[in-house]
Amino acid sequence: MDTLRIFDTTLRDGEQSPGFSMTPEEKIRLAEQLDEMGADVIEAGFPIASAGDLDAVRAVAGRVRRARVAALARAAQADVDAALRGLEPAARPRVHVFLATSDIHLEHKLRMSRGQALDQIARMVRYARERAPEVEFSAEDASRSDPEYLAEVALAAVEAGATIINLPDTVGYSTPEEYGAMFRRIAEKLAGRGVVLSAHCHNDLGLAVANSLAAVAAGARQVECTINGIGERAGNASLEELAVAIAVRSERFGVRTNVKLEKIYATSRLLTEITGVAVPPNKAVVGANAFAHEAGIHQDGILKNPLTYEIISPEALGVPARRLVIGKHSGRNALRARFEELGCPLEGETLQDAYREVMELADRAKTVSDRDLLRIAIRARRIAPPGAVHGEAAEAKQAAAGGMA
Ligand code: KIV
Ligand code: ZN
Repeated sequence: MDTLRIFDTTLRDGEQSPGFSMTPEEKIRLAEQLDEMGADVIEAGFPIASAGDLDAVRAVAGRVRRARVAALARAAQADVDAALRGLEPAARPRVHVFLATSDIHLEHKLRMSRGQALDQIARMVRYARERAPEVEFSAEDASRSDPEYLAEVALAAVEAGATIINLPDTVGYSTPEEYGAMFRRIAEKLAGRGVVLSAHCHNDLGLAVANSLAAVAAGARQVECTINGIGERAGNASLEELAVAIAVRSERFGVRTNVKLEKIYATSRLLTEITGVAVPPNKAVVGANAFAHEAGIHQDGILKNPLTYEIISPEALGVPARRLVIGKHSGRNALRARFEELGCPLEGETLQDAYREVMELADRAKTVSDRDLLRIAIRARRIAPPGAVHGEAAEAKQAAAGGMA
């Protein structure tokens, strides 16, 4: 089975979004965690952007030993020089050169012709490759670029020494079908050249993960993503969603990753702790509700066999524990299990009385806390007739009445 390389850009594309800036020390902490988690490439920053960014890239490059460390550079000599300086301490450096290839960017942002951009890309990729062991080229706004021109650019970048070609959906505009088709076309043009194609998707239409997976199905063997899906505007494809989708549906995608799934939750929490920005509770994989169950039917299924409502276990991702949330949709079985977990087991009529009280409270309040549950359980035990707490009285009554349910 092929290995899909995970290129983490939390420290670059993620960090450049509002509210997510990090100090060099925080970047090092996160980079070490990403390395331990199994990211194949860690993009540490954009060294030409500021002296601070250059220092941070140097610091990360000096610390990470296993993963490759990448630094971003526009296709300009000063940018590539800054990236090379940032990567000096790296054990496995990668210069990541980019230039936009869509007409809208060429005309309005770069004020360049297609021919000028093509020359500059070839010159700067060659310049970088003469000074670094590995060069990736990104055709910014690839998904809105003319397909023929994009193919010409990709070929020129490869002939100049790039071994990884990234085709970003920079503005999150593509659909899975379109994005996959672009990868198929470029893969055909570059066949036999030993090039790794890379996907880099933004989430403006909420399609970043779906588009990345469509690229993988079309032959991409690197995906660029961020922890918690942070990044420009609506964010980048979320690393944890991609890694778990690939693991859960490996038979569908025919690839594996080097990500240690059990480190995913801790990595997500570390980013939250560093930036102070929490993930929404319903976020896939790492949200607080990702493994919480409130509906009675779901809770009953989970208690009988977790596979009924979970496609991967929380333990496999390092999530502390599955939560059975007690609310107005919960059933008696879940309440019995929760009382047991809280050290206050109840059965029979006592459980029934407590259940009624919990449901009344749940109707009034949004959630029922463990404190509420304990208060209700202790009171129920106190007022229960002798022997009723564990259901003996109820069972005896039922037996006398002619049988057990
Ligand atoms: O979104 C994008 O196109 C980028 C490139 C610089 C890779 O972030
Ligand atoms: Zn991006």
